[in-house]
Amino acid sequence: MSKAAKGAGKKGAAGRNQTVVVSCVNLKGGVGKTAIAVNFAAYCGSKGLRTLLIDLDPQTNSTFSCMSPEKWEKHAKTKGTVADLLGVRQHTSAEGKAKTVESVIIKDVFPSVDLIPSHLDLFTIDLDLSSQVSRETRLRRAIRDVLDDYDIVVCDCPPNLTIPTQNALAASTHYLVPVSLDFLSSIGIALLLGRIKKLSDDLEIPLTNAGIVISRVGRKSYFRSQTAQSLKATFKGMVLSAQISERSAVAESAAKNISVFSTADHAAIDEFTALGDELLDKLGIKI
Ligand SMILES: Nc1ncnc2c1ncn2[C@@H]1O[C@H](COP(=O)(O)OP(=O)(O)OP(=O)(O)O)[C@@H](O)[C@H]1O
Ligand SMILES: [Mg+2]
Repeated sequence: MSKAAKGAGKKGAAGRNQTVVVSCVNLKGGVGKTAIAVNFAAYCGSKGLRTLLIDLDPQTNSTFSCMSPEKWEKHAKTKGTVADLLGVRQHTSAEGKAKTVESVIIKDVFPSVDLIPSHLDLFTIDLDLSSQVSRETRLRRAIRDVLDDYDIVVCDCPPNLTIPTQNALAASTHYLVPVSLDFLSSIGIALLLGRIKKLSDDLEIPLTNAGIVISRVGRKSYFRSQTAQSLKATFKGMVLSAQISERSAVAESAAKNISVFSTADHAAIDEFTALGDELLDKLGIKI
């Protein structure tokens, strides 16, 4: 990593002396959270930033965008997943031993990008941890010892505000909200922002909005232009200039366990590059 990046990382976007941790969140499913988290992490890695991608979604989509199910299964059994870090799998694992964060991390899924994979066990985490104290800050405590190894951490969240998302936010300095312009997809953003503010106040963890990114932009329609306009009018400077279009290379690259930067779709590469540059600028990280 360049000295410039290190210096910027130290100061941090909010003037904090800590690694930038950004969570991709939205209450709505299918809006491009995972595609953006994975490809933003790949972009950061391609720029020489030491990057950690954390999959907090029991659907495991960002995990399987980076690795095969066979490789994941072996790793999950022997080394563990984010479910171990959140204390879910201790109930089910044969050895009953807690896994360390160092064991759970998979190195170099993309250049300079490490991954903490997810597990289906997270589907029941709210039940499993219902009577546990400090259950929202388990990830924050688990990754504390490795944060200095990274310039940036990107968390991919499920489409809700249950315990995995709360853990991502409690470990974060920033959050990013991908939205698509389809019917109903922008409803709930004000609710989401309000709930994140409350969580941040309750846990006394300052969280900065890194932007709302319009994603999966398809064919032009009157309805979609109206939605984009109303988003910009309501959330003003929060809406990023970079947008991500609906392009087959995005879904295909995920299925092949590569990022869009390893495809031949130059338009997709250009869009994710513009988004990466705008986000890094907002996060105060110079490359
Ligand atoms: N820009 C894009 N162009 C084409 N396909 C896309 C794009 N972004 C995402 N997709 C595809 O659309 C589907 C949903 O996207 P994605 O998984 O990123 O959304 P999500 O918000 O993470 O969903 P969930 O809330 O279920 O986790 C996936 O199959 C993904 O590959
Ligand atoms: Mg997802």
